Amino acid sequence: MQVKFVSIVSGTSTDGLSIANIELNGYNLDTEYNILSGKNKPFSIKLREDLLKVAESTKIDAEFMSRLNVRLGKFISESVLSMDLDYDVISYSGHTIYHGPSVMKVGNGTLQLGEISFLVAKSGKTAITDYRITDMAYGGLGAPLIALSDYIIFKRPGTLTVNIGGISNVTYLDSKGFLAFDTGPGNMLIDLAASRVYGQRMDKNGQIALSGTISPKLLEYLMKDPFFKKYPPKNSGREYFGRKYLENIMRKFPSIKGEDLVRTLTRFTAVSIHEQAERFIDSQFSDIVVGGGGTKNPVLMQDLKELFNNKIRTFSSTGIRDDLREALGFAILANQTLHNAAGRLTNIQAMTGPVLGKIVPGKNFNEIFKFLG
Ligand SMILES: Nc1ncnc2c1ncn2[C@@H]1O[C@H](COP(=O)(O)OP(=O)(O)O)[C@@H](O)[C@H]1O
Ligand SMILES: [Mg+2]
Repeated sequence: MQVKFVSIVSGTSTDGLSIANIELNGYNLDTEYNILSGKNKPFSIKLREDLLKVAESTKIDAEFMSRLNVRLGKFISESVLSMDLDYDVISYSGHTIYHGPSVMKVGNGTLQLGEISFLVAKSGKTAITDYRITDMAYGGLGAPLIALSDYIIFKRPGTLTVNIGGISNVTYLDSKGFLAFDTGPGNMLIDLAASRVYGQRMDKNGQIALSGTISPKLLEYLMKDPFFKKYPPKNSGREYFGRKYLENIMRKFPSIKGEDLVRTLTRFTAVSIHEQAERFIDSQFSDIVVGGGGTKNPVLMQDLKELFNNKIRTFSSTGIRDDLREALGFAILANQTLHNAAGRLTNIQAMTGPVLGKIVPGKNFNEIFKFLG
C-alpha cells in the first residue's frame, strides 16, 4: 500500500527544518521508499535565538514557551504549505528543547516544541508526532530513533551508519540486530566556537578549521570526558555539549587561537565518532555510511576518512540526499505507526517492539485508515 508523506525534521543544530516529500510502499523490511523532493527551510535569526534560549535554559516563562510552540508550529505550517506538495500524512520529529537522558535524567523525560495541529488544520492531512516521549514511556531513551530506518534501508549486516547533526550518532547492524547510540558532539561545538569567536553561524565548508592546527593538549583533555566511558545505549544533546561546555573549554585554554580551537573541535568530533564506534562495537565494519549536515564540512570528512582508513562514504552515494536522511527516517517511523508496527525493535527476528508516536487526525483521517484496511 502506497502512502505519501511530508516529513519534517528539526535537529539540535537548530538551523531550520528539513522537509521531504516521500512515497513509501509496504512496511517493516518490505518498505520501499522514493524521495520525491526535499528542501531545507532555515529559521529566522529571531526564531533560532528564541529556540536556543529555551534549550539553553535561560530564564524563561510559561507564556514565552507557549508562544514559541505556536510560532514554530506556524512556521512549519507556512513552510510546508509554500512547497505545494502532494501528501496524505505528515510526520514531524518535534524540536527538542530538553532531553533528560542526555544528562542522565531519564525520569525527567523529553520535551519537543512546534505545534503540528496548525499544519493539520490548514492542510486537512493527518499527522504523526511525539515519537520520543512515547518511546520513553516504553522504556526507550527517546533518541536516536532512526535505527529502524537504517535497518530497513541497508538490511545488510556489517553496516555502520553515522549521522552528524548537532550531535553525532551511530547505528551498527550485524546479523543479530543493531546497536544505536550518540557518540558525542557533531557540529554543535564547531558552530558554537565559530559563532563565539568569529560571529559566524557555522564554519562554512571548514574554512576556519583549514587555517588552524590541532592542539593535542586540548584534544586529549576533551577525550577524557566521562561521557565516552559510558556504555551504550546512551545519548547526548545541547544540555551537555552546549554553550557551557564551550565556555569551560575557553576558560581552561584561554590562550588558544580561534582557528586552532575550531580545528581541534572539528577533530574532536571525528575522533570521538571513531573512538566510540571502535570501543563499543566489537566487529569489523564492512560499510560506513555518513549523513547529516556534517558531511558538508570537508575538514571533518577528511578527518573521518583518515581515521576509518578511507572506508567511509556518504548517504548520497546510496541515492539518499545527506540532508534528507533523517527526514526519510521519520517518514519510515510514521509509516510503521500507520501500520501498527514497531518504531523501535526489541525483538529483531520477530520485528516487534513498541509502536511510537501520537496521531493527530486531519480531515483525511477516515480515508487513510479505510485505505490501509
Ligand atoms: N556548508 C557547510 N559547511 C560546514 N558545515 C555545514 C555546512 N552546511 C551545514 N553544515 C553544518 O550542519 C549543521 C546542520 O546539520 P543538520 O544535519 O541539519 O543537524 P541537525 O539534525 O542537528 O539539525 C549546521 O549547523 C552546520 O554545522
Ligand atoms: Mg537541521
